[in-house]
Amino acid sequence: MSEVDRAAMGAAVRQLLGDSLGYLYSAALRVAVRAGVADHLAGGPLTAEQLAALGGVQADHLKRVLRFLATREVFREDENGAFHLTTAAGLLRSDSPLAMGSVVLLLTDELYWLPAGRLDDTVRKGTTVFDEIFGKPLFDYLADDEERGRIFHTALDDLSATEHGGVVASYDFPETGTVVDVGGGRGGLLHETLVKNPGLHGVLLDLAPVVAGHRLGADPAIAGRWQAVAGDFFSEMPSGDVYLLKRILHDWDDENSVRLLRACRNAMSSQGRVLVIDTVVPPGNDPDPSKVSDLAMMIVFDGKERSEPELSELFTQAGLKLERIIRTPGTLSIVEASAA
Ligand SMILES: C[S@@+](CC[C@H](N)C(=O)[O-])C[C@H]1O[C@@H](n2cnc3c(N)ncnc32)[C@H](O)[C@@H]1O
Repeated sequence: MSEVDRAAMGAAVRQLLGDSLGYLYSAALRVAVRAGVADHLAGGPLTAEQLAALGGVQADHLKRVLRFLATREVFREDENGAFHLTTAAGLLRSDSPLAMGSVVLLLTDELYWLPAGRLDDTVRKGTTVFDEIFGKPLFDYLADDEERGRIFHTALDDLSATEHGGVVASYDFPETGTVVDVGGGRGGLLHETLVKNPGLHGVLLDLAPVVAGHRLGADPAIAGRWQAVAGDFFSEMPSGDVYLLKRILHDWDDENSVRLLRACRNAMSSQGRVLVIDTVVPPGNDPDPSKVSDLAMMIVFDGKERSEPELSELFTQAGLKLERIIRTPGTLSIVEASAA
């Protein structure tokens, strides 16, 4: 073996070792959030001993976890052994306007963690093992378990807050008409849409326990321009002109996705638009957030992230046609469809 081959082999071995233990990175992020490390560093750098005392954990173990996270620029250790916030660590502060701590707690929760550990079963069977582990599909589970429902919807709310400004700024909404946010959670995206487009009215549609926690009523700027509807989006689609489906279609298999798109198609006005707001899977081998999210959708929902041709095919089956794809500043794209 040449020197070059040996070096390449060494790098590949290191990569496979690191990747096989990649789950420890998720676990370490969870430790940092649960111990409140980013919050405790808000006033300035602290040692692992100080952080451990504040977080109620063991100093030596926490130090090793933080040293590992610092290799990914989540926290930084200085030469005196004190830890500092970094840009990523700052997002783990609970008072950050863009807060990712709740997202870490959801994505490292047993809801995702247990099905992830059984990805091989999912791939062998061709279906999620979520229902087998938790006894029912995810959205039923969230509706029945108040604490898990809170964890899920708080995380989605916080994640949405990092996204909806970029989404609304990227799309030219009509001056008047009704926007329906399909599965709109607690209404963050609809709120932003109505604030930025004062001629529009909006309908928030989601399941009853979720709609019960919406926050649309708090802002006088949108008073009288919104309605919150508790219902099943497969059977009760309100009429409207623009349908927002943000992080919705990727939760469902092709058959249910077509059902949902057809429900929008049947309810929308003649000039209506359906906006599927998801990651779009690019061709090729480059890393892309869509390829990670795709596996997350596979393990908990039987959902998937889709490529442009796959989305186009779903639209065709639902009586729609793909008009254009608009990239937003984050990981999501707006895929616009009109009546075919
Ligand atoms: C992944 S979350 C996305 C929430 C929001 N659009 C966002 O981007 O933050 C999916 C949403 O669909 C809602 N949902 C799931 N099944 C539903 C149904 N049958 N009818 C109405 N809403 C549903 C869930 O309650 C949840 O709020």
